[in-house]
Amino acid sequence: MIWVLTGFMGCGKTSIGRLAASLSAGLEFIDLDEEIVRREGRSIPDIFSADGETVFRSIERRTLADLLHTAGEPSLRGNAQLQSSMLISLGGGTLTDAKSRKLVRENCKCIYLRASLETLAENLREAGTEGRPMLKLAPGESLEDRIRNLMAERREVYESCADFIIDIDRLDYPAIAQQILNSFGQ
Ligand code: S3P
Repeated sequence: MIWVLTGFMGCGKTSIGRLAASLSAGLEFIDLDEEIVRREGRSIPDIFSADGETVFRSIERRTLADLLHTAGEPSLRGNAQLQSSMLISLGGGTLTDAKSRKLVRENCKCIYLRASLETLAENLREAGTEGRPMLKLAPGESLEDRIRNLMAERREVYESCADFIIDIDRLDYPAIAQQILNSFGQ
């Protein structure tokens, strides 16, 4: 089985996914953004500023499709036992693309890490927003405004793709990682 983590920027997909994989023998973790940067040889802000969001979404879709293809082909991965256990953290906007949604629906189980606006804003302020082009603020716009506006477009997408939803506001990372591993057995 291939599992994906989705959720808004700043919900902790990468750190929590990595932690969950470290707690489960044989679970391979891949971060989609890191994979894109490795393959493209340039940063996400560089891709956005040179080519724009539409091109980024198509790179994101192609990278996801390749990962899913490789995951489904034990010979391509060199270890048949890993075939059944891969956890991919998606980018916060991956599922806004209809073809990426279809890929996920047809090939993966999806876990949505759902967080409140307050939690997201706090995490994003702590982490910094420079590496996240979608959080470039318009004049007079606050981080909260931006999160609220993007969430209004995305909430339905996250929820409709999710096989499992974990409300993470009051949970620490180890507890969230444990809930992810628990959902594997359900
Ligand atoms: C994006 C989220 C980012 C990254 C890109 C676009 C988005 O990933 O894919 O900057 O549209 O929400 P994270 O959710 O890991 O920050």
